[in-house]
Parts: sequence; structure tokens; C-alpha cells
Amino acid sequence: MSDVLIITTPAELRAQSRVWRRDGMSVALVPTMGALHAGHMSLIEHAASRCDRVIVSIFVNPLQFDRDADFTAYPRPIDDDVAACKAAGVHAVYAPTAATMYPDGHDTVVSPGAIATRWEGEHRPGHFTGMATVVTKLLNTAEADIAVFGEKDAQQVAIVAQFVADLDIGTEIVVGATVREPDGLAMSSRNRHLTDDQRRAATSIDEALRYIANEVAHGADIDDAVAAGSEIIAAAADTRIDYLAVVDPRTFEPTNTTPARVIAAVWVGDTRLIDNREIGTK
Ligand code: PAJ
Repeated sequence: MSDVLIITTPAELRAQSRVWRRDGMSVALVPTMGALHAGHMSLIEHAASRCDRVIVSIFVNPLQFDRDADFTAYPRPIDDDVAACKAAGVHAVYAPTAATMYPDGHDTVVSPGAIATRWEGEHRPGHFTGMATVVTKLLNTAEADIAVFGEKDAQQVAIVAQFVADLDIGTEIVVGATVREPDGLAMSSRNRHLTDDQRRAATSIDEALRYIANEVAHGADIDDAVAAGSEIIAAAADTRIDYLAVVDPRTFEPTNTTPARVIAAVWVGDTRLIDNREIGTK
């Protein structure tokens, strides 16, 4: 097993990427906040299938957390993450400190537009500005051919695709499918905060998404389908819906037509989970 390079500064990462590309190799970036699970690993596999060199960034970005408690509680098993990257054949882990990413005097953010005003943007003020700022920095530093993102965070992907186009960033944005537990729950670093009862209740999210996607794909009224889907989640213990909606897959505006995407954010106890499913054309 070849060793994985550990890189901690933007200058080193840029230099390494340039060496690889000068030698004729293609480079993929997989941005993460660590606590790697099978969802992240599937993005890494996808990156490796497309490019000669894979960089995984691991950085719990303080700028994108709207709640201090969430930032503090966010898991940081860096040794396990590096071991998982090494086992997966990742060539470099980029793990800068917050002081490196945001030194004193850092004074610029990337402010995404309309897509970021809704849903996660509304419920987590500042989240998408923080996300767009760090992703822009990572893309600028890695100078990769492709960057791989998960469909699990569909609104994030739509925003990244928009600002990459708007800001003439030269990296191709590639989307990997959502990896789920056998009972349908989307894998998430936050799932580990769930008690056994909450873990069972959390399966209602995917159940509702699949119900709505199936009903709408078969011509059901969208409002009726969403109302029935809300009941499925409400019937599970300790759940509270932030939003459950059917949206245009590109703009994230509410829609009455297909193709569309059904998106959800649900509190299960003190843990907030998000998920979504594609809805095909009627
Ligand atoms: P994080 O939540 O660590 O997710 C890193 C990447 O893994 C994202 O592209 C996310 O969509 C993807 N991912 C998460 N769960 C997944 C699953 N179950 N199946 C497939 N892919 C999954 O998203 C972030 O970090 C940050 O916002 C980041 C982009 C790194 C910027 O800080």
C-alpha cells in the first residue's frame, strides 16, 4: 500500500498538484469535513476511477456552521480518516488548520445567489456563504481536473455548480449518488449522534421521500403527496420537520412539475438530518 501524503498548507497542495499535472497526470479533489463513512468512500472511488491522482480534503470549516454546538460536537477522528484514505489508495490528504485557512485579516467571502436563499440557506443563516467560500478556496488551491460532490447535499451541489460557472473556475463538478444504510437512512457523519430509538425514527425520512417521489412520479397531486409524507415523519417519535418540499432540481424553487427533487430537513432529537430523492418525469 503506497503512503498517503499529508499536506497542511495551500502552497504545498498547489505545488503538489502542479507536479502531478506537469507529469501528465489528471487530478481529482474530494472535499470533506472528515468522519469519513461509506458515502465519502464512494466519492473517493468515483474520483479514483476518473483520475490518476486523488486528493481528499478534510477540514471542519468553522465558517459554514450556524450553531456553535454543532461545530463543537462535529466528530474529528483524523487518524481513522487518514487510515481510511490510505486503504482506499488516496494520494494526498489535505488537512489545513482553521488558522491556515482563515488567518487574521481574512476578509473575503463568496456569497452565492438565489439558490442559497431557500431551504438550508433559510434555516442555517450564513451556511452557504461559508461553504462557498471554503469550496472556492479548495478548488483554487487544488487546481484539480474534477471535484466530486455527493447528491446527498443536493442544494450544495446546485450552488457549487452555479458559482463554478459564474466565477469561471476550471474544475469539472462531478456528482456521486447517495449511499444509504440497508434501511434507507442516508449515511451522514451526524448519524452517530442518534440514540437507538432516534436511529429507528430517522428511517421515516427516507420512507417519506420515497413515498412522495413515487406518488408524484405516478401523477399524484404534489401538495397531497407532501402532506401524506409529512404524516409519515410526524408519526415517528422525536421528529420535527424543518422543511419537506418538491423543488426544481436546478433552481430549488418549489415546483408543480417534473422532473423534480423532493428534499427534507428533519430534526430527530437534537440531530438535524437532510436528505433528498430524485423524481422522474411523469
Ligand atoms: P461533508 O458533510 O463531509 O461531505 C463531504 C461530501 O460527501 C459532500 O459532497 C457530501 O454531499 C458527500 N456525502 C455525504 N454523505 C453522503 C452519502 N451518504 N452518500 C454520498 N455522498 C455523501 O459537504 C461537506 O462536507 C462540506 O460542506 C464541504 C463540501 C466539504 C465544504 O466544507
